[in-house]
Amino acid sequence: MKKILVKFCACIFCAAISSGAFAQVYKDPKKPVEDRVSDMLSNMTLDEKLNYIGGYNGFYIRGISRLGLPEIKLTDGPVGVHKDGRAIAYPATILTAATWDTSLVNQLGYQLGRDARARGAHILLAPGVNIYRAPMAGRSFEYMGEDPYLVSRLAVNYIKGVQQAGVVATVKHFAANNQEWDRNNISSDIDERTLQEIYFPAFKAAVMEAHVGAVMNSYNLINGQHATQSNYLNNVVLKKDWHFDGVLMSDWDATYDGRAAANAGLDLEMPYAKFMSSANLLSALNKGEVKQSVIDDKVARILRLVFKNGFYDHQQKDNTIPKNNPDGQKVALELAKGGIVLLKNQGKLLPLSKTVKTIAVIGPNANTYIAGGGSSYTFPFSFITALQGIKKNANGVKVVYVPGIPPFSDLVSNSKFYIDKNFRRTGLKATYFNNSKLDGIPVKVAEEQNVNIHNGWGVVAENKGVPYDHTSIRWTGYVKPKLSGRYQFTVRGFDGFRLWINDKKIIDAWQDQGITSKSASMLLDGNKPYAIKLEYYANTHPVDISFAWGIEKINYQDAIKAAKKADIAFVCAGFNESTEKESVDRTFGLPAGQDELISAIAKANRNTVVVLNAGGGVSMAKWITNVKSILYPWYPGQEGGEVIADIIFGKTNPSGHLPISIEKSWSNNPVYKNYYDTTGSKRINYKEGVFLGYRFYDSNITKPLFPFGYGLSYTNFSYDNLNVKVTDSTTVDIHFTIKNTGKYDGAEVSQVYVRQINCPVLRPYKELKAFAKTFIKKGESKDINIRLNRSAFEYYSAQEKKFKHDPGMFELLIGSSSADISLKNTINIK
Ligand code: BGC
Repeated sequence: MKKILVKFCACIFCAAISSGAFAQVYKDPKKPVEDRVSDMLSNMTLDEKLNYIGGYNGFYIRGISRLGLPEIKLTDGPVGVHKDGRAIAYPATILTAATWDTSLVNQLGYQLGRDARARGAHILLAPGVNIYRAPMAGRSFEYMGEDPYLVSRLAVNYIKGVQQAGVVATVKHFAANNQEWDRNNISSDIDERTLQEIYFPAFKAAVMEAHVGAVMNSYNLINGQHATQSNYLNNVVLKKDWHFDGVLMSDWDATYDGRAAANAGLDLEMPYAKFMSSANLLSALNKGEVKQSVIDDKVARILRLVFKNGFYDHQQKDNTIPKNNPDGQKVALELAKGGIVLLKNQGKLLPLSKTVKTIAVIGPNANTYIAGGGSSYTFPFSFITALQGIKKNANGVKVVYVPGIPPFSDLVSNSKFYIDKNFRRTGLKATYFNNSKLDGIPVKVAEEQNVNIHNGWGVVAENKGVPYDHTSIRWTGYVKPKLSGRYQFTVRGFDGFRLWINDKKIIDAWQDQGITSKSASMLLDGNKPYAIKLEYYANTHPVDISFAWGIEKINYQDAIKAAKKADIAFVCAGFNESTEKESVDRTFGLPAGQDELISAIAKANRNTVVVLNAGGGVSMAKWITNVKSILYPWYPGQEGGEVIADIIFGKTNPSGHLPISIEKSWSNNPVYKNYYDTTGSKRINYKEGVFLGYRFYDSNITKPLFPFGYGLSYTNFSYDNLNVKVTDSTTVDIHFTIKNTGKYDGAEVSQVYVRQINCPVLRPYKELKAFAKTFIKKGESKDINIRLNRSAFEYYSAQEKKFKHDPGMFELLIGSSSADISLKNTINIK
């Protein structure tokens, strides 16, 4: 019966069997992966091999049709699969870490994998697992916090989820990308023990436990060497010690020397083979500077990934998965519910009492979609702002909105322009080109009231439904200031833009870049025409450009008035995709005017709640004692506004805990003196060693404002019944009970820290070695069982080049944050 079926089946494999094509092992899906890899390798010409290890067209590995090798599509990124336009925008990775919920993070990975499958992407450029070292680092929001154990557990679950969906995950950026300031030139100088204990563990777990398919090198140098040229990092640690058999790719344009990178273990240069080009490699091969076996190994690694994941055998695009997948939306919502952190709640102001009749919602972040910027920025299909969420759930409570500092989107739509200098007709003349150089005959000329294009695909024209990748646009016209004074001009765009006022160039950002904002101000006379010329280009990215102008001085009076009249004032402040993003660091202080706005509102209303968007800590010194509550939604993704409202009105009990320590002032951070290169040497010496975050504060008189692991709930939890058994010399079984003693159902994050009492080597006071997030109904208790193994007691000995423990007494410290320990026990580890 089987035979008959095979004979008449029309699928390509059966056709291939009957034609005898499976004589070639690489075509046979039943053959072992390694056999197919070697067979394919032996069928490839040298030219094909050399061309295979450089990307092309921005985000692809070339296909070879002669051999049936498909084109491999890569896509960003950690919070949404957004290469082809809109996608589900999950919360920032730092929020994901604040959930401390490994199973939810696994679901996130799986949904991202499905989003990738819906778009035919084979490789997802996520997760980012670099350690949080300083609050200003522009990519903290894309990473998972300060603790290597927490990051490792989350990364493993995330990666497994992505790969379960049939997509290759890419753990990045290897290694020590801990700041964006001068990121392409600075060297992270780190001793071996610190690398092994702090900066490597998440990568190691990704490789050895989650079997991640791809790794991406970092932009920064490591101990003086470009990551892509570090033999130690790539060949010794990653490939030899951790047995990584996948693909090591460069970050985009982070390769500098083809021969050195090839020998140092880089397998794939992205986005294209600029240095590991076939010409360079051929000449290196001929001179004996690179061995053929080195090239073959790189090709084999990509082929392994192709065969192992079935990319050769089936279509990657899964048309059964909707692009705006409801399961993904649900995970975006659940993450926000689990990861928003309540930092302060004086007098139990939240959730709002039934007596509240009027709420004032204030601040630039209240009514706009808020996310970190750069390559991870995702345009959602839909989103809900904090204001929309609050209004939707207000249930009869009056909601008054006054931005105070208006969001940029309001400034854009309120900006007025004129076509002519006599102010007869409003608008601007827009001239569109289907190239990035404002070249040749325009494809469209129009009059437009504003410059306000968001995520515009194919805005110039479409070619059989395929939008042009390259677009440039010029807007010309006039502005008319009402009164004489200083006016501010702000342009925000994806890729290049430049602005002239009366032929004077005042903004120049003419380069490929993620979403960037630039402002300039000028003294203008009232009632006079000023000529405007704005030029813009988009290079393979969606067209996204907006432009606002207006009087420079901010006036908070309306916001203060609204706050005075309300029972409670919410100030939604913080950073956004222009002020916190890759390639630049942000400030520790809030963006201009926000401290003043919060202070003014707190003065006007003693029930002020601050809702703060940031990817890490911010300075709160100017107002923290004057506000009653602080909610930290990080960047909460497309469903964020709904969850903020749910928390405010008590439908969701906050359960996020900090994956970072928040310092009172930047100078308190142990990294303070070792962050910026003040000498011009480009060397950042990680002098704090392993004493980062709580590992520093624990043994120091300086304490953080909010400690690692901290987060408030509307309920209370009590810890009891600790029972510890050392089952063999290094396996420890821990049992304890948590009771929800308050009035709300809620989830607790219990944390197990290990401390060596008398250590022969200098070690942090304590280190996180296990955690559990447990939902407990009010009045109920739950038993928690945790097993620690040998690794929980170890440190890295640089002398012996291995992790080891010194036998002796260890203390187990269990509680709800690094600074709130409820249970203790001492054990002897032999
Ligand atoms: C980022 C990577 C990203 C790549 C592709 C780079 O600028 O550092 O994280 O995956 O661009 O967009």
